[in-house]
Amino acid sequence: MKISLSFLLLAALFTWMPGSISQDGAIALKASLLSNYDKSLRPVKSASTAVNVDFDMSLRQIIELAEREQTFRINIWLRLYWDDELLIWNATEHGGVDSLTIHSSDIWRPDIFLFNNIAETFGNIEAITDVTVTSTGRVTYFQPTIFTSACPVDISRFPFDKQECILEFGSWIYNAAKVNISTVNPAADRAFFTQNEEWILTGAPMKRKEEIFPCCPEPFVTILLTMQLERRAFFYMFNMVVPCAILMILNVFGFYIPPDSGERLGFFMTILLALVVFLQVLSGSLPKTSTSTPQLGQFFAATIALVGFSCLASIVVIRLSCNSPPSRPLPRWLRLLLLRYLARLFCMNTIAEEKHVVHPAKEGADNTADHETIRQNDTPNLSSDLSLREIVRPSREYSAQTQTREKKEEEEGQDQDEWKMAALVLDRALLFVVGLATIIVCVVLLH
Ligand SMILES: *[C@@H]1O[C@H](CO)[C@@H](O)[C@H](O)[C@H]1NC(C)=O
Ligand SMILES: *[C@@H]1O[C@H](CO)[C@@H](O)[C@H](O)[C@H]1NC(C)=O
Repeated sequence: MKISLSFLLLAALFTWMPGSISQDGAIALKASLLSNYDKSLRPVKSASTAVNVDFDMSLRQIIELAEREQTFRINIWLRLYWDDELLIWNATEHGGVDSLTIHSSDIWRPDIFLFNNIAETFGNIEAITDVTVTSTGRVTYFQPTIFTSACPVDISRFPFDKQECILEFGSWIYNAAKVNISTVNPAADRAFFTQNEEWILTGAPMKRKEEIFPCCPEPFVTILLTMQLERRAFFYMFNMVVPCAILMILNVFGFYIPPDSGERLGFFMTILLALVVFLQVLSGSLPKTSTSTPQLGQFFAATIALVGFSCLASIVVIRLSCNSPPSRPLPRWLRLLLLRYLARLFCMNTIAEEKHVVHPAKEGADNTADHETIRQNDTPNLSSDLSLREIVRPSREYSAQTQTREKKEEEEGQDQDEWKMAALVLDRALLFVVGLATIIVCVVLLH
């Protein structure tokens, strides 16, 4: 009983003591301090002394970086500290009151503006919060603000781009001799920063700079806050680059489809169509600027060009391969180029030369490989004569007349064979070339 009573008394004492003493003193003190205060004059006793403003800020959140509008919006907690020589009192004489809160619009504040502002507020910092003043005259001013600044965005490396948005703060009317701003920390505080979905903040250094403007001979102090941003490329990699890369790989292996199968041109055309549709869908996600082509756009363009080239090359290969009879022999330069040099380059010379050498030595028609090539030629567009001959050939094998005819046809088949071989070598060469081009495009445009 006794203990609880003494507790109650103690509690009452604690709640009553500071309240009654401080608040009464504070009201009187505040009234006396502000009675003769002119908030439009710098709070210094001698006009020659500068007000030293300590500048600091805590970054809260990046609201937006608009590429097309070239604007940057950010939420910042501003922290300013300065000494007010007119707000000094003796704490012991004023009932122990050693700090006061005053609305920031009631006293002098450094007129700090965002110089590269583009919002309707003209970069002004409105007086919203209260300031805390200690008995030594130290003013602490914390204020949340949203700044919209101009930020030149260079999207040529999109989506692997890094942007630097510089926010330039300074006093609008006071030069360095009157209001001397200096930074407290070399970089903005990021302890309460909310990570952005699109951008990674890699750094936010602050730098003090004395600048002479054309208007006035005295230097002005500006604080440059550099927001170093790096775009998160994962979204673009996952949704745009990966599907496109898969189509590119398919495009390379399209040359592995036999030219005779008739599927090949359709295959390339399908890839081309898929890419064009894909680009249409995704063009909305690319920054709409025309001053520079983003790297991702270049990648798409290169892919479409490669697939287009594959279509063209495929047409040439199919033309070589399905050379309808009566066919001319392979031109000498083409034979040299394809069947000798290119074939050797792609280690196909054994097949190519074998065919080439066997031809004059061959006498009979009993070469199975030869039979096969003729059968391969048995495409619907060949004359019905050929297929008929195919069927009746065994019965006429020993007829002399047929033998001469067959020899002639064999020669023709041999020519056909050479064309086919040339197509095969060209195909392999294209597989390598397109594969190499794909790798180069990926390495150059996706780093
Ligand atoms: C504050 O006032 C008390 C009492 O008048 C005095 O003793 C003390 O020296 C003063 N302090 C300062 C810093 O002037
Ligand atoms: C302003 O402050 C800086 C560093 O805080 C100092 O070097 C400079 O001398 C000051 N200038 C004036 C005019 O007080």
